[in-house]
Amino acid sequence: MRRKDFPLLKNTIFLDSNSGTLKPIPVIKKIVEYYKEYPINSHSIDSKLGVIVMKKINNTRKIISNLVDCKVNEIIFTSGTTDGINKISRTLDYLINKDDEIIISKYNHSSNAVPWIQLAKRNNAKIIISSNIINDINKKTKIVAFAQINNSIHEKNDINLIYKKIKSYGGILVNDAAQAINSTKVSIKNSDIIVFSGTKIYGPTGIGALVVKNNLLKNLNPEIIGSGSISNFDENGFLVKKGFYGFEPGTPHIAGIIGMGYGIKYMNKYDDFNHKKNLVKYAYDQLSKIPNIDFISKRDDYNVLFRIKGISSQEIVNYLGYRNIILRSGKHCALYLFNTFKLEDVIRMSFAIYNEKSDIDFVVKEIKKGGNFIDIT
Ligand SMILES: Cc1ncc(COP(=O)(O)O)c(C=O)c1O
Repeated sequence: MRRKDFPLLKNTIFLDSNSGTLKPIPVIKKIVEYYKEYPINSHSIDSKLGVIVMKKINNTRKIISNLVDCKVNEIIFTSGTTDGINKISRTLDYLINKDDEIIISKYNHSSNAVPWIQLAKRNNAKIIISSNIINDINKKTKIVAFAQINNSIHEKNDINLIYKKIKSYGGILVNDAAQAINSTKVSIKNSDIIVFSGTKIYGPTGIGALVVKNNLLKNLNPEIIGSGSISNFDENGFLVKKGFYGFEPGTPHIAGIIGMGYGIKYMNKYDDFNHKKNLVKYAYDQLSKIPNIDFISKRDDYNVLFRIKGISSQEIVNYLGYRNIILRSGKHCALYLFNTFKLEDVIRMSFAIYNEKSDIDFVVKEIKKGGNFIDIT
């Protein structure tokens, strides 16, 4: 499965794609091509090379617009999901009054929690940390922020139902699509705001997209401003551009934007959701053979979360890590969820197009082999 595009796999088993996929050679080549052949600032396009840069950036906008059904002028480039949520949450104060409610899911990544808590605090509004979003939406709800697919324990939610209900009260739905974007259809048709990161879709780190519906975007005033995002500046003050231009001050991460576009193209061509789902099931079945295994996730989830009773998850992951088998252990940035479930370190195994059943077999064999060395009971 396209393993040749990922040279690291020659000597490494990589099972941590929820943190970030590996980057395929065709995407890396496009990033290098920018730095070698047209390394021009996108603000100085008055040359043949500058026009290439402008076209490449516009091309990524077109690719994203096809991916999530938005208009090209509804896309703001960010440094990633966390950056996108912070940026947007700092523009929505005007919607929030005292005693209004902002719902965040209990299952949210911390990046999709703390910026909303701050927004609520700034405006004396109420944060509802929800275990049942659809039930909790009411006429006071101004914002619902959740993830269509979670990065640790998965919460089954129907985004269409949630969207319908929040819209019936005139509120806003924020879809943290950092994980969903490579595993299911993500669309601005059932969200007002979508955020995701390039690094989870075969693109570079340090780049992402914030997609905001135009009817909302036109009312927003960005917090971070500067060159490129203002249309005038004199002794009377300055004018911030409307729409996405106002949200993209300074020199953008041009190589990142280009790389993210090609990452999405690669994903569209080769990624296979069923392949990943089948690997989850296979891993679940194979890991079941390890004595004292304790699954936190279900067989039909998007990743595998487990621990082995009596053995430190962190030690297992270290043991494997030093043998070039990359998994992740911890609370997976879902601190609130893990704390309420009283869960400490949990191992996560996650997949992408380049994984095979043999990766899982190898891990199971190594865990069985290493068990004697890492017993902490
Ligand atoms: C669901 C979810 N939200 C937010 C983030 C934060 O993404 P980033 O670190 O790219 O800002 C992640 C990263 O793992 C995630 O999985």
